[in-house]
Amino acid sequence: MLTGLIIKNIACLVQTEDDPKQMVCGEEMSVIGSIRDAYLLIKDGIIVDFGQMADLHSGKISLDFNEIQTIDATGKYVFPSFCDSHTHIVYAGSREAEYSDKIRGLSYEEIARRGGGILNSAKLLHDTSEDELYRQSLLRISEIISLGTGAVEIKSGYGLNTADELKMLRVIKRIKDNSPLEVKATFLGAHAVPAEYKGRREEYTDLIINEMIPVVASDNLADYIDVFCDDGFFSVEDTERILMAGIKYGLIPKIHANELAFSGGIQTGVRYNALSVDHLECTGDEEIISLLGSGTMPTLLPGSAFFLGLNDPPARKMINAGLPVALASDYNPGSSPSGNMKLVMSLGCIRLKMMPEEVINAVTINSAYAMGISDTHGSIAKGKVANVFITKEIPSYEFMPYAFGSNLIETVILKGKIV
Ligand code: NIG
Ligand code: FE
Repeated sequence: MLTGLIIKNIACLVQTEDDPKQMVCGEEMSVIGSIRDAYLLIKDGIIVDFGQMADLHSGKISLDFNEIQTIDATGKYVFPSFCDSHTHIVYAGSREAEYSDKIRGLSYEEIARRGGGILNSAKLLHDTSEDELYRQSLLRISEIISLGTGAVEIKSGYGLNTADELKMLRVIKRIKDNSPLEVKATFLGAHAVPAEYKGRREEYTDLIINEMIPVVASDNLADYIDVFCDDGFFSVEDTERILMAGIKYGLIPKIHANELAFSGGIQTGVRYNALSVDHLECTGDEEIISLLGSGTMPTLLPGSAFFLGLNDPPARKMINAGLPVALASDYNPGSSPSGNMKLVMSLGCIRLKMMPEEVINAVTINSAYAMGISDTHGSIAKGKVANVFITKEIPSYEFMPYAFGSNLIETVILKGKIV
């Protein structure tokens, strides 16, 4: 039976594409397709048509369905759902004690050296059952759905031993099987060196390569492989060894790069055809040149730079040089305890000096690319999955990043169904 959904009288349908692109780069980032007084037609979870209300009234559009539901969106805007291409949303507990330490003046690295940081989350995760981890993570998943996210990439990396990494990845798989979100899974065994391997980073790297990657791949638990390639975490050499091992098993690289230092992580990601390199607070001319012409999406995480008080990455310089830029939330308990992609848009504008059109592209089509789904997500285009949200009544699309503290999302539609 064909079931349909039609959204009528949309004040403005945003991020429409007649000729869908994989990503938008440089100057193209300042252009957004949009249609005023529009309709959007969804059939069996897929966008089948959209256009001006005048065309709908002319009777040219076929509405041949067994069942069709109508939503009147007078005064409201419709956007494609956000694609959040970088999160650590599966974690146990929270780390607000470190938040207080941070306010008192300790840096992210100092907190990590004292056994806080990622190792603190690893301990909490170890002591939490798989069912409880799923339950806690699902609360955050419901939260981000209500905030307009329709696709999410989720990393492991708070296990740091084979059993706990697999536990995390199974929880990610359970989310993928049970939630209406599009989910991609990333194996991040190289997130930190666990306490038992202190001073023996190479041996832990061997464990990742010889034990973890083969079982993660044979259990089909990950799409991507990630390494925290930065000062005090993993070196370029460790990163290359891990990426080579992952690629052998069909895992595509996505790298945590250049957050804390000019680590060489960006160039390494490009050399290994990473789908994205993420963070990039420490980016200079050399890094920008290496990214130009590559298929690697520079992905900025302004929530974590804001929360940690880091220098912002040079987004303007990147875009002016012709690069694409994606934005993601980095939702995690240590550096960005928020998965609010609308706030990420605001930070992109306010902190990174990106224009509203640029941030809209950065949280939709470019972040879809950074998680390998821009064929099916990231814009309003015929044949794409019907993941959209309807706003409250707003005067313009710029109002979304401008009204940085207001929840303006009223109705969420995922895979063609109202959530
Ligand atoms: O993306 N930079 C490395 N990892 C995370 C932080 C994880 C944590 O502190 O728990 C990030 O910011
Ligand atoms: Fe991260």
